[in-house]
Amino acid sequence: MCYTIPALVENIKNKSATISYFGERKTAVCELTNIACGDYVYAQGGYIIEKLPPDEAKKILITWEDLFFQLQELDATRAALGSADISSDDILQGILERARQGVIPSQSEAVKLLNLESVASRGLVRKTANYLRQQYHKNSCCVHGILEISNYCVRNCAYCGICASSNVTRYRMSFTEIINAAGEAIDKFGFKSLVLQSGQECGYTIRELAEIVAAIKARFPVLIFVSFGEVGVEGLRQLYQAGARGLLLRFETSNAVLYEKLHPGYNLDSRLEHLKAAYAMGYLIATGGLVGLPGQTEEDLVNDILLTSSLHAEMFSFGPFLPHPASCLAKYPKPLEQDVLGVLALARLMCAEKTKILITTAYETLSSLAREHGLMAGGNSIMINVTPLKYRALYNIYPHRAHENETVALQIRQALAELKALGRGPTDLGS
Ligand code: 5AD
Repeated sequence: MCYTIPALVENIKNKSATISYFGERKTAVCELTNIACGDYVYAQGGYIIEKLPPDEAKKILITWEDLFFQLQELDATRAALGSADISSDDILQGILERARQGVIPSQSEAVKLLNLESVASRGLVRKTANYLRQQYHKNSCCVHGILEISNYCVRNCAYCGICASSNVTRYRMSFTEIINAAGEAIDKFGFKSLVLQSGQECGYTIRELAEIVAAIKARFPVLIFVSFGEVGVEGLRQLYQAGARGLLLRFETSNAVLYEKLHPGYNLDSRLEHLKAAYAMGYLIATGGLVGLPGQTEEDLVNDILLTSSLHAEMFSFGPFLPHPASCLAKYPKPLEQDVLGVLALARLMCAEKTKILITTAYETLSSLAREHGLMAGGNSIMINVTPLKYRALYNIYPHRAHENETVALQIRQALAELKALGRGPTDLGS
């Protein structure tokens, strides 16, 4: 369906393929054994995940060709910088001009960008971030599905509504429920990429989680990200062997002292070891942190962005801290939308070329215009919640989560309309 379009394999050597989308070339890893030059394939996150019959591929491509270029044009027009997009603040103007030429802002410049007070200056930073997003990534916007398989958790993260000590009603989807929900997302709704998420030690052993991953991979063509907390290096290995190729694990904050305060009994180093081990194993990394934590400074946020980059994240996941009434951080305020947008835009300025930047559900909960604002400030990735509705509200990490009561079909309709209005193609065109 519509989350990705067929690519033509132009060249393949060992496990590396050159694939083309209407002439636009990408490189993709090919772990399938039946792929040859001239084949049509679907790719996700830089992996070829499925071969298509040529007739079917050509039919899809004919329906896409005009729209593909129309969307690109609309996006390029909206992302262009004009002669009026100049700041009267010479220092800011210098930083943004250099950023446009590929010079990454220094740490002190980055802090300045987060502290800007004028609406016009903040707007210009976002516009520059959007310009860079378009220059490096064109209009592709990746749309992952996320399936929350269990809300059991052994950890007591200070901000989280499903932490071990919370009295939320617990659920754990059965093996069959998980396969059915994943199957529906992939077969019926066309997702090519799925995140499986739960609390840490969620009621399934690692071996069982690996069996779930393997069972989905055996039945459906899909790129799987796992997000089960810190599963240990051996756990990561088992899940990779089962077919998982992505890890979504936020380090939450790069400030080690703050980390230990918020995560009693755990430390930042162990979190980072997981992320480093996963990258070394070949996982695609999605990571990031919370914005607006009590005690967090602008310097911390800049370090968060630098850390995310140094962990080779292919996707940045930064969302606002939203106080949960039953957590010990209940009395702390949530951040302003402009603070979240400032971090997304700065992330794009600091890592323009390499990364996808996610508009998180937490940000969508903070602002009903999050997608539009975030996608126009450097963002190029969204998630759709495919957790069965009867469980959705129980994954209560923060209150009143966006899309809590929306069917998958409705979320898709809305997302496609929002993306189309901005000229974005809901496709992951590979790395
Ligand atoms: N506000 C915002 N995000 C939260 N998370 C957990 N609790 C909250 C909250 N109160 C995020 C954490 C975690 C992800 C699954 O959910 O960053 O990594």
